[in-house]
Order: sequence, then C-alpha cells, then structure tokens
Amino acid sequence: MKSIKFMLAASAVATLTVACNTGAESKNAPSIKAGVTKANWGTVDGKTVYLYTLVNDKGDTVTITNYGGTVTSFITPDKSGKYSSVIIGFDSLAPYLQHPPYFGALIGRYGNRIGDAKFTLDGTVYQLAANDGKNTLHGGIKGFDKVVWDASVANDTIPSLTLKYLSKDGEEGYPGNLNVTVQYTLTNDGELKIEYDAETDKPTPVNLTNHSYFNLSGDVSNSILDETLMINADSYTPVDNTLIPTGEIKAVKGTPFDFTSPKKIGKDFAEVKGGYDHNFVLNRKDNSLEKVASLSDSISGRTMDVYTTQPGLQFYSGNFLDGRFANHGNQPITLHSALALETQHFPDSPNKPDFPSTILKPGEKYHEVTIYQVSVR
Ligand code: BGC
Repeated sequence: MKSIKFMLAASAVATLTVACNTGAESKNAPSIKAGVTKANWGTVDGKTVYLYTLVNDKGDTVTITNYGGTVTSFITPDKSGKYSSVIIGFDSLAPYLQHPPYFGALIGRYGNRIGDAKFTLDGTVYQLAANDGKNTLHGGIKGFDKVVWDASVANDTIPSLTLKYLSKDGEEGYPGNLNVTVQYTLTNDGELKIEYDAETDKPTPVNLTNHSYFNLSGDVSNSILDETLMINADSYTPVDNTLIPTGEIKAVKGTPFDFTSPKKIGKDFAEVKGGYDHNFVLNRKDNSLEKVASLSDSISGRTMDVYTTQPGLQFYSGNFLDGRFANHGNQPITLHSALALETQHFPDSPNKPDFPSTILKPGEKYHEVTIYQVSVR
C-alpha cells in the first residue's frame, strides 16, 4: 500500500489510505466514503478559514479552502494506480498568504487584464488599481483570490461546496454590489465542475475564472512543455508588450498558436516570445457547455478535458514561475512546471467594444460553467 503525502482533513485520511492502494487492491476498495469533510485551516481578516475535502466514489479527491475559494489539490490515479495531485498547491494556509501567483484561486471581479487600469461605462471613468505595471490584473490588489468566502456544504450524494462573496460597491474601484456564488462539485466521472453565478445592483464588468495550474504528471519536476494540448480555437487575441490585446482577432493557422489538433506544447514554443500567455477565441456557436480543450501527459497516462460555457481560454504556460514556492511534496515550482487553462471572457473587454460584452446589468443573471475532467487513457 502506498501512502499519500497530502495533509488532509483527519476523517478524509482514512478514506484516502484505501484510495491509495495499488491498482489491484483498489478494485475492491470497499471503504471509499464519498462526501465532504472540513478542517480548520487558520484565520484571515478575523474570519475562520477551512480546508474542505471532497471525495467521490472512486476515491478522487479535491481540496478547496474558502480563503480565495482556492483549489489546493485534485488527486487522481495515474495509469499505474498511483495517486497524485494534478493541481499545484500547498498543504497549509501560510504560503497562500505570501501571495503566490493565484495558485488555484477564484479570480474576480475581472479575471485577466484591463488596460491602463481603467474603463468607461455609461460616461463615467472608473479608475482601478494598477497592480501589473500600468494595467490591472485579476481583480486588483485585493481580488476575490484574497478574501474569505462564506462556505456551505450541500447535503447531497455528489460532493459539492458552495462559496459566496459580496463584493461591495466601489471595491477595487468597480461599481455595484456584486453578489457572487461559486459552486464546486466533484462528480463520480472525475469532473471538477465549477459553476459561477452573480448579480449586481449597478452595471459592472464581470469576468470570473479559476486560476488552477496543472501538471498532469503530478510531479512538477516534469516540464509541461512535454504535455500535449488541443484547443478548439481557430483564432486568438494578439497582445502588446504589456499583454493587453491589440483588438485584433488573428487566425492561428500557420502560427505557433495552432492547437486545433493535439500538439506537444514545446513544439513551437521557441517561436513565442516570453511563452504562451494568450487568450484563445473558442470555436463555438452559442454559450452551451462544450468541450474546448484537452491536455494529455504520456508519463502518467492522464488526460484532462476542459468544458466551458465561456467564449475564451487563456493558455498560460507558467512563464513567470520562478521556484519561489514549493508544491505538495516540497518540490520547487519552477519555470514551465505547470500551466493554466483559464476559461474566461477576453482580456480588456471593457475597453474593446468589438469583444463580447462583459457588462452585467441589474436584473441580469451571470451564469458560467467550467469542467475539468481528469481520466486515464
Ligand atoms: C496571466 C499571466 C500572469 C498569471 C499569474 C495569468 O492569467 O495571463 O500573465 O502572470 O496569470 O498572475
């Protein structure tokens, strides 16, 4: 029997001991107990922070903290039945408070960048915090990734966690009280499903996403440049040297951005200055939930399919990861040791009238869904 290195809620450990058996043994894993457990993880802003452990009936496990709504791990078996996390993260709260680059976090009110940290809406100029050079990134100085969300566990057969946050009128410079609900569900088909809902009392830009970084091999000493990616996007949004879209929608055909057929990430990597950090314009007819990307890794045999209702996907190849933080198991998280596939609206949409609108108005309901489904093939 193999043991697992993650520090989880006490009651989940017993469950996982079974889930970590070798392939042959785990066929009979009789005591996998699907459900959600909760452990105290510390205090932030005078509020208690918890770590929630969601286990499905196969023994797949997702851990989420209500600090930043952060997914701290997603533990699944590889082709030999060995369990490890495909999402990078930490086993305690302290490193999250040192501001890692959004590992696993919920991002809002506006994911990605807004140029010059400002936008005009109904004739009013809204000034935001410039926290990325002259631009604003991922909601500003204290975005949704740095607040404590109210959490509740559904009394259901499928493990899920509901997080709520009220972003007050004027917070980080954005107009309107925005009531946000995010529900995480771990299905028995290995899907981490994320449902985002929001309502406002004044028109405001909204672009919610999750910033999990993946390394499907479960071991950050393996480069993600060796993983294979498909993105169902015939075009992308080129950026200036501050990573703000120029406004052009450019065809990927004949460029290093063509992932319409599965391609090793490293194949054309040298041709992309600074690495991939671009929004792909997903091929889709409407906003129904569709498969938009697929990532696979030959070492572990794992594949991850991404489904979303969103129009865009930011593929970020971990170009600024620098070894400052260590993953589960104490491995340094270095350049290109993990990647993000952030489902979203296009960056800088509030300043780009030709991009799909991100403005939510009073009376409207913001609703988006993204699924990361991990399997072994
Ligand atoms: C951005 C990157 C940024 C990273 C971490 C990604 O969404 O596109 O430019 O470095 O988040 O902040």
